[in-house]
Amino acid sequence: MTIGVVGGGQLGRMLALAGIPLGQKFLFLDRSTDTPAGQIAPSLVGEFTDQKLLRALAARSEVLTFDWENVSLAGLRALGRATRIAPPLAALAMSQDRIAEKRLFTKLAIPTTRHLAVDSVPSLVRALRTVGLPGVLKTRRLGYDGKGQAVVRTIEEAWHGFEKLRGVPLIYEEFVPFDFEVSIIGARSRSGEIAIYPLNRNLHRDGILRLTRAPFGPAALQRRAAHHLRRVLEHFRYEGVLNVEFFVRRGKLIANETAPRVHNSGHWTIEGAATSQFENHLRAILGLPLGATTARGHAAMINLIGTLPARPLVLATPEAHWHDYGKEERPGRKVGHVTVLADSAQRRDAAARKLLRAIDPVALRAL
Ligand SMILES: Nc1ncnc2c1ncn2[C@@H]1O[C@H](COP(=O)(O)OP(=O)(O)O)[C@@H](O)[C@H]1O
Ligand SMILES: [Mg+2]
Repeated sequence: MTIGVVGGGQLGRMLALAGIPLGQKFLFLDRSTDTPAGQIAPSLVGEFTDQKLLRALAARSEVLTFDWENVSLAGLRALGRATRIAPPLAALAMSQDRIAEKRLFTKLAIPTTRHLAVDSVPSLVRALRTVGLPGVLKTRRLGYDGKGQAVVRTIEEAWHGFEKLRGVPLIYEEFVPFDFEVSIIGARSRSGEIAIYPLNRNLHRDGILRLTRAPFGPAALQRRAAHHLRRVLEHFRYEGVLNVEFFVRRGKLIANETAPRVHNSGHWTIEGAATSQFENHLRAILGLPLGATTARGHAAMINLIGTLPARPLVLATPEAHWHDYGKEERPGRKVGHVTVLADSAQRRDAAARKLLRAIDPVALRAL
């Protein structure tokens, strides 16, 4: 059976790596064959919006999925009912627009940030007055890794941010002085079965995820996050893996955003959970029974950003697992990750600290 994947990045690569032992074949669509996924499986080459290529991909695949949310919704919709697409396009549409996302959170009684849409000077003034300072101005669409955002502490910064981002629909939301950030990942299969992973504690810098540790207590937070995630999965009669990010302030969860796909904060599940998020995404979209989501120990995932560290340094650490995405090194680009797996949180943090000293000294200070 062939799974068609729109996008051939590292998420697609890890989907293929998880699916091959299940007997699946993969076909990707991306702008070149030298992508992380294209290096290990065949690809069609062209634009994500190319209708002829999307149709060719659909014709050769049992089911179509995608490895990031900024794929062409219109292109996928135009394929019509003849093709099975999972996750559902309604969930993709929601996650592509920060306002639609917040509207859904509110509808499902999931607390989120105060916000207003901004598309003109008067609407900016109104948003500043209603939401107040400090805040964050973001593009409604196409944001990732903190791109398309400006933190606003003063009226002056609001004008600067608006000048920088204007021209596309924006959202202005309150700045949350969070204590920390978490995310939760779960899968819903075609049959309606749901499996939810332990909570991830995430550390971002400059809008990019640097470090995830899981499982992360306390139990009450896990229960509430799982409850919110379950509501989103059921709302869409979802098929596949979905992630919800939260800010945590004074023990309360405030939803930030969703991703209708496997997520960077779930990479630890490859070694750290009974079944990885990648395998469970495939099981879910194929209608197979979901695998157990229990943690196998205590995991820390360190993103490798810009450059790869010296391999011997990582490989000489017995708790470490090395993942190279096969990408060219470039500042700010995710080129790989390392997962540390240990039998206690203390031993995990000690091993992670040792690696971070060489890989990411700023993240080290926050650990
Ligand atoms: N309203 C906010 N208050 C405080 N920090 C924020 C806010 N919005 C974003 N951030 C910070 O920036 C990171 C990236 O923002 P996010 O909205 O998740 O966009 P992206 O799509 O780039 O991941 C967040 O994980 C958080 O660390
Ligand atoms: Mg985010």
